[in-house]
Amino acid sequence: MICNNLTVNKEGHLCLGGQDTIELAKQYGTPLYLMDEDRIRERCRTYMTAMKEAFGETSLPLYASKAASFKQIYRIMKEEGMGIDVVSSGEICTAIAVGFPMERAYFHSNNKTDADIDYAMANGIGYFVVDNREELDAIEYFASKRSITQKILLRLTPGIDPHTYAAVNTGKVDSKFGSAIETGQADEMTAYALAQKHIKLSGYHCHIGSQVFDSDTFLRAAAIMIDFANQMREKYNFVIDELDLGGGYGVRYTENDPEIDIAENIREIAGAVKAQCKALDYPMPAIRLEPGRSIVADAGMTLYTVGTVKQIPGYKNYVSVDGGMTDNPRYALYRSSYTVLLANRANDETTPFKCSVVGRCCESGDILQENVTLPANTARGDILAVLTTGAYNYAMSSNYNRIPRPPVVMLKDGESYVAVKRETYEDVCKNDI
Ligand code: LLP
Repeated sequence: MICNNLTVNKEGHLCLGGQDTIELAKQYGTPLYLMDEDRIRERCRTYMTAMKEAFGETSLPLYASKAASFKQIYRIMKEEGMGIDVVSSGEICTAIAVGFPMERAYFHSNNKTDADIDYAMANGIGYFVVDNREELDAIEYFASKRSITQKILLRLTPGIDPHTYAAVNTGKVDSKFGSAIETGQADEMTAYALAQKHIKLSGYHCHIGSQVFDSDTFLRAAAIMIDFANQMREKYNFVIDELDLGGGYGVRYTENDPEIDIAENIREIAGAVKAQCKALDYPMPAIRLEPGRSIVADAGMTLYTVGTVKQIPGYKNYVSVDGGMTDNPRYALYRSSYTVLLANRANDETTPFKCSVVGRCCESGDILQENVTLPANTARGDILAVLTTGAYNYAMSSNYNRIPRPPVVMLKDGESYVAVKRETYEDVCKNDI
């Protein structure tokens, strides 16, 4: 299987973290998001240990919480000693609700409103990752009003194409995010930030893209960033304390995706960064990485109940489930691949049946996956599993067609518990007057 937390028991039922998914579907109903807490913690520890060993004690992984944002995730990150990347006041508010230490929070976004900036500062945000000059002005204004010195990183675009899908490709010069090194704007932003009275420029940030498998792109980005930092030292006598190399490590959605050895990759980057700093006689900065997907994706799985099975002779077959683009819009948006199987007959390879697995929304684009192979007798009542849904599924879910969101059930040490409740019809119309 694509992740070692997946097994099949003697009843032929798919298990996640050793727990029978069919029992869980009975207990909690479908559609259902499952998340293996032990796996999430294991991934946090992989990053934490590898970074401390390779980059030293000052380094810190920041969980990119846009991948999955709800209270329990922030509790886990707090317990694991992780930092977090947040992108909105909503994420900040969720983290604060569980007492996350906000000095370890880094606030991203290409368009923070004045209200966002004021709210983040009022709640002691550690760092703003500043995207543009207007934002610098607003931070200076609010920091001076509070008589504080606000730490920031500048988000830069190193001009690298990581060859992932367009929607998540952010390291190129032509990007809505950050200031480009190539155009001289990164230099201008550095000078401007250094001139502010209530801002401390702690360093630089870049994020080249997401679902990236090519380790070379991370190495090139790091080299460009350090080279730029060195130029800024020569020009402004300014030395960075921190270098944040963003997130982006790819995960296995299918057997075709390679498995990345995160610890090995981190060692490789550390080797290159240390060598470059030594060669330039540049003080080694504290390193940050911002993994999102690779922390939570393969901890997750979504269970559905099969409804209509439709065969259109000469065309194709459709298997409809009781969820869809409302709980997982990623195929509709990016044509993302997923591994799909029947959880109640995980070993059933009798007469394979090719089909599109589709949702229940009133929209033809509501497809979870095409060209799926299921057993030929797949029928109403079967439980279907979509694997690797821990990242950007619950986070991107919606109430389209007024469909309530599924609950998030966490699995830990052989037990399960609800981390996010199933939405009710009252929830769906609670803001309507
Ligand atoms: N840091 C920054 C500044 C980011 O923009 C992102 C992702 C990350 C870190 C985390 O990247 P990760 O490790 O998760 O690849 N909705 C899309 C993904 C959007 C990613 C946006 N930024 C999807 O479902 O594939």
